[in-house]
Amino acid sequence: MLMNGDQASPAATVFDALGAEYEKAFAGSAAHRSSLDWLLGRLGPGSRVLDVGSGTGRPTADTLTGAGHEVLGIDVSPVMVELAARQVPDAAFRCADVREIPLAESSFDAVCVYFSLLQMSRDEQSALLRRLARALRPGGSLALATVPADVEDFEVDFMGQKVRATSFAPEDLTAALAGAGLTVESHESVLFTPSHPDATPEPHLFVHCRREESGPAA
Ligand SMILES: C[S@@+](CC[C@H](N)C(=O)[O-])C[C@H]1O[C@@H](n2cnc3c(N)ncnc32)[C@H](O)[C@@H]1O
Repeated sequence: MLMNGDQASPAATVFDALGAEYEKAFAGSAAHRSSLDWLLGRLGPGSRVLDVGSGTGRPTADTLTGAGHEVLGIDVSPVMVELAARQVPDAAFRCADVREIPLAESSFDAVCVYFSLLQMSRDEQSALLRRLARALRPGGSLALATVPADVEDFEVDFMGQKVRATSFAPEDLTAALAGAGLTVESHESVLFTPSHPDATPEPHLFVHCRREESGPAA
């Protein structure tokens, strides 16, 4: 909860305003579902999964808990956390800025980062990827999705909201993942048009990675 004098982060302001509209607009993403299939194919029974920027809990936490896994979702938007907790009661959700929470070494079998880095600076994104890699057990999996583009603090109109976005070109994202100690196993690029009156086709890049079995993450 915000205290007097505290300011909501820009991401919280945008996603508090969008809430369930976001889920409706992106529900048709076949690439998101096949990314979850990749992850499900790699998880042992009862795996522990961290979902960074968990949104409404659908499809990610819902799919993973439905397959018997234990999910912790972190999201900075109180509205998203409230929706997710209601829609996916079998997962745990916490309202926090992922840049600020401690993450124990090797504490998760898998990490999901679906479209949740875009309101962070490039340095913050790279630093977070390094921390997430360390939070994965050796051999664990990380699935990430982003809108790949060579932009920094770029204003975009997103579903009627003004949003400032920062991202990497695909080859720079691959370098940031490698710098975090992650090996890319596969990726998928698609053009997706959200189901929303203001939407235009946007490029989506899904990347599937593994933390090496031996040696510490960078
Ligand atoms: C584009 S939505 C994607 C939601 C979900 N991952 C999905 O793909 O359906 C991005 C989510 O990340 C959250 N987010 C953005 N920056 C964050 C941060 N620093 N810490 C935690 N959550 C964050 C937003 O509040 C939002 O719910």
